[in-house]
Amino acid sequence: MSTAYCDLRGLRGHILYLCLGLLLLLIPGEAYEKLSDDRLKALPRPSQDFDIHTGALFSPILQPRVPGTPGHTAVLEHFASFFRTTLPQWEIEFQNSTAKTPISHGKDVPFINFIAYRDPPGASKGDVGRLTLVAHYDSKLEPEGFIGAIDSAAPCAMIMHAMRSIDSALDKKWAAMKEQGMDLLEEHHGIQVLFLDGEEAFKEWSTTDSLYGARALAEHWDTQMNPAMSTFKTPLSSISLFVLLDLLGSKNPNIQSYYPTTHWAYQSLGSLEKRLRSLGKLKSPPAEPWFIDTSKDSHQVMAFGGIQDDHLPFLARGVEILHLIDFAPFKGFPSVWHTADDDAEHLDMDTVKDWSVLMTAFAAEWMELEEYLDHQDNVRREGELEESEAIRLNKKTEL
Ligand SMILES: *[C@@H]1O[C@H](CO)[C@@H](O)[C@H](O)[C@H]1NC(C)=O
Repeated sequence: MSTAYCDLRGLRGHILYLCLGLLLLLIPGEAYEKLSDDRLKALPRPSQDFDIHTGALFSPILQPRVPGTPGHTAVLEHFASFFRTTLPQWEIEFQNSTAKTPISHGKDVPFINFIAYRDPPGASKGDVGRLTLVAHYDSKLEPEGFIGAIDSAAPCAMIMHAMRSIDSALDKKWAAMKEQGMDLLEEHHGIQVLFLDGEEAFKEWSTTDSLYGARALAEHWDTQMNPAMSTFKTPLSSISLFVLLDLLGSKNPNIQSYYPTTHWAYQSLGSLEKRLRSLGKLKSPPAEPWFIDTSKDSHQVMAFGGIQDDHLPFLARGVEILHLIDFAPFKGFPSVWHTADDDAEHLDMDTVKDWSVLMTAFAAEWMELEEYLDHQDNVRREGELEESEAIRLNKKTEL
């Protein structure tokens, strides 16, 4: 804001507004609009399709997914078919790369990042900043049969639930803007999902044996150029916030705040956690708040170089990061971390579903969807709203 300066002295009211209006046009800016209690209460909670044995959304991810194995391919296909059928308005891309690993005997191993995004209709690609929700989908080679339920099958499912829960509100928002004759070129807020490959080391964690997918994508997006005159120069700079979910799905998580510049977004999640809990929308036992740094202010937040994860290649290139990982001093990672016990049966499903609702709320606030989400009057059975029922109820209120 400091570069655009308007001298307002002596200007008449309407010129002042023009001046402010121009300022707003010049600054793509962060959007964030709190949801009312009414909308929070009506947010859908995952139900049958999160069943760990039969759930259509979640159970296909709960299998070994080592790069280059059939399980890995099956999970990737599951993501693609979920977006194609449930979220047909989304664009899907794959970003492919290859790398040698310490166990590949000089051969190249393929890594495939899954990318899905939704932009306002008609917006030019380089002018949209995207809230970007990220988890890795590969699983660790050892111990044999390792499932990686918190690492990161459950985070992938949480993100899928959140995106399908806000999708029809995005339809309504952009349709309403069109109807009001608003130029959608001025709508700069899109949303994006990254399911990254090759996060895990094959042998021993090092700068070259880990983060295969994240390193390839960050480098690719840093060198690819958006069209000339775009607001954002590269796909990398189109990421308005990189929210990385990892090691989530165990009971009583401890989430720290790591970056001063995104502490405000951390605080928003902390406040949503409190509000959702007081509204009875979270079912896990409220031992203590998940977001343990909410009483800190941004200059008390320390970016210590501790946790190595998929955000690092993006952080190094200046992307804003919010790292949601269950880790606390003295406690460390959840006890199942990198053991055979990190399987579906050891998940705390109330916590998994609570996270899904929380991420839905955060995405809806970021995308400013208050006016376009279902509200409580439209929801008969709280948290059990089926899509067909939602459509029927909407039709009813329209008549
Ligand atoms: C990348 O990999 C996916 C999945 O195997 C494949 O469908 C796609 O064609 C590949 N893309 C390119 C550009 O090679």
